[in-house]
Amino acid sequence: MAFKERVFSGVQPTGNLHLGNYLGAIVNFVKLQATYECVYCVVDMHAITVWQDPAELKKSIREVTAAFLAAGIDPKKHIVFNQSQVSEHAELAWVFNCVARLGWLNRMTQFKEKAGKDRENASVGLYAYPNLMAADILIYRATHVPIGEDQRQHLELTRDIAQKFNNDFKPQIDAAGFPDGFFPLAEGLMSGPATRVMSLRDGSKKMSKSDPSDYSRIALSDDADAIAQKIKKAKTDPEPLPSEEKGLEGRPEADNLVGIFAALAGRSRADVLGEYGGAQFSTFKAALIDLAVAKLSPITSEMNRLTADPGHIDAVLADGSARAKVLAAETMAHVKDIVGFVRG
Ligand code: TYM
Repeated sequence: MAFKERVFSGVQPTGNLHLGNYLGAIVNFVKLQATYECVYCVVDMHAITVWQDPAELKKSIREVTAAFLAAGIDPKKHIVFNQSQVSEHAELAWVFNCVARLGWLNRMTQFKEKAGKDRENASVGLYAYPNLMAADILIYRATHVPIGEDQRQHLELTRDIAQKFNNDFKPQIDAAGFPDGFFPLAEGLMSGPATRVMSLRDGSKKMSKSDPSDYSRIALSDDADAIAQKIKKAKTDPEPLPSEEKGLEGRPEADNLVGIFAALAGRSRADVLGEYGGAQFSTFKAALIDLAVAKLSPITSEMNRLTADPGHIDAVLADGSARAKVLAAETMAHVKDIVGFVRG
């Protein structure tokens, strides 16, 4: 094995974490701890690519950290930290700004969506965002990246950057003793039945922090009543549930609710339909409410307990950042040598 296997992933501290973040990413972060050395990051530098209120940002950084811990990430065995405390992310991102091509960034659909019509007014950071994401992953020379579907294109760009760096500097990389290239081509891990959780109000839109309707998403801070209300109001269609997966085709809302159920229960979609095929949504929604409350409430109360003690969270982040910095500094020293910078 040419590269040490390592997992890296990040979550932005931009307001309420929701069920999509949890099922699409955080649940997998927790599982991967058993097999890999994991580095999990609260990407606060990514957050400021769009305006963030400074006091709210601090709160959100602590909230995402609390969600990691409450979901079951062990910050002693693995690394949990916030990006801005490890300056090597920004340093490597600059090198990648000089490796990535404008044409590559111009293809990024997330930039187009986020910048909207007023592109001229978007921050330069929002445009260069994927280069910083590549730096996050590659500063740890991570081999595996658990993410939801919406981050697939960014991960492909990360691989393109790694490949171009390895090619551009091949003689220097060989001379430095890395015959397989310096950066690994990191693999995305998109697993489980909920890699793309959709809005509860519209099965064609992804569940997101920025949707103006609070009823479109279940937030990790929602209490049992809010969860029940939102699931009761979730859009459906008039047919009962099908007994096989192919019956979900063309029924995006049904497909979404079955996917959420399966992911929360740790079962496959087929298995869930085996039990609920033929049932009306009223029956299925009642079961989904019970399941969602049983799975999410303990996490919500643990998050509340943890955020009540910001000093403890800050200490976890400081410890994780110090450990991350050791790994990041080692990579950055090699990068400087490879690129041809002089260092003391
Ligand atoms: P972010 O903060 O938007 O989302 C965090 C994680 O949640 C996943 N996700 C979803 N999964 C399923 N269904 C949904 N509706 C849904 N919405 C969000 C995302 O795919 C993500 O895995 N650019 C990243 C953060 C980042 C990062 C990184 C990730 C920065 N550097 C390096 C991996 C590696 C982002 O904005 O995620």
